[in-house]
Amino acid sequence: MMKSFFLRPIIWFFTGILLVSTLFACQPQQVAETPTTNTTATPIQTTAPVTDTRPIAFLDRQLSANPAQLPPLPYPYNALEKAIDAETMKLHHDRHHATYVENLNNALNQYPQLQDRSVEALLRDLNSVPEDIRTTVRNNGGGHLNHTIFWQIMSPQGGVEPTGEIAQEINQTFGSFEEFRKQFNEAGGDRFGSGWVWLVRNPQGQLQITSTPNQDSPITEGSYPIMGNDVWEHAYYLRYQNRRAEYLNNWWNVVNWQEINRRAQASRQQS
Ligand SMILES: [Fe+2]
Repeated sequence: MMKSFFLRPIIWFFTGILLVSTLFACQPQQVAETPTTNTTATPIQTTAPVTDTRPIAFLDRQLSANPAQLPPLPYPYNALEKAIDAETMKLHHDRHHATYVENLNNALNQYPQLQDRSVEALLRDLNSVPEDIRTTVRNNGGGHLNHTIFWQIMSPQGGVEPTGEIAQEINQTFGSFEEFRKQFNEAGGDRFGSGWVWLVRNPQGQLQITSTPNQDSPITEGSYPIMGNDVWEHAYYLRYQNRRAEYLNNWWNVVNWQEINRRAQASRQQS
């Protein structure tokens, strides 16, 4: 009897705690506010200033999307045999690049208002492109821009040593041309899968070696592409098969330093 007299308040105490906890647990919990923005959108990391209007693919005009057009190769298919065989050049330009142009136009046909913007403007502000065509524009607009640069920065008169201001700036930045070429080749070799290796002027105004996956353009991150090499297998597989390093080495024999100097000069202009 005495035992029950002492135990009863303890049981009541713990029963009370249990009841209060249960009541709290049953209260509706405050949940994070549902965003009012479109929850299906998948934003792309872009850090480019959308106010940047510098032309990129060509230096005298922005790349038109109204409609996008395949630029002609500035030399015959067999002109770059020192590094790239004619069949690869033909397939690369007439099929691969042409397909990027066609896909970009097909996507933009659904949104005619976007055709008034340049390819550069679309890539600098990808999140303003409707989500259903955003990835298509990213891949195919990027492919069109990247390849348009690529054809111009190669030449049958290309040589292995840079000249002009870019030569000095490369020496200042990387120590020597040999060191620059080594780092550029390594970055191209390290790019897993498909992509590009670039020499860019970064937003801080410095020369930098970077690499991008797929057809992403450095302009999406606010850098100015001065020169780039295509390390997709379609760029080298017929002659080099899996020997990407050999392709990267030979490619220097067709690099057009005159054009790269022009691009380096354009890259120094403020956006
Ligand atoms: Fe390519």
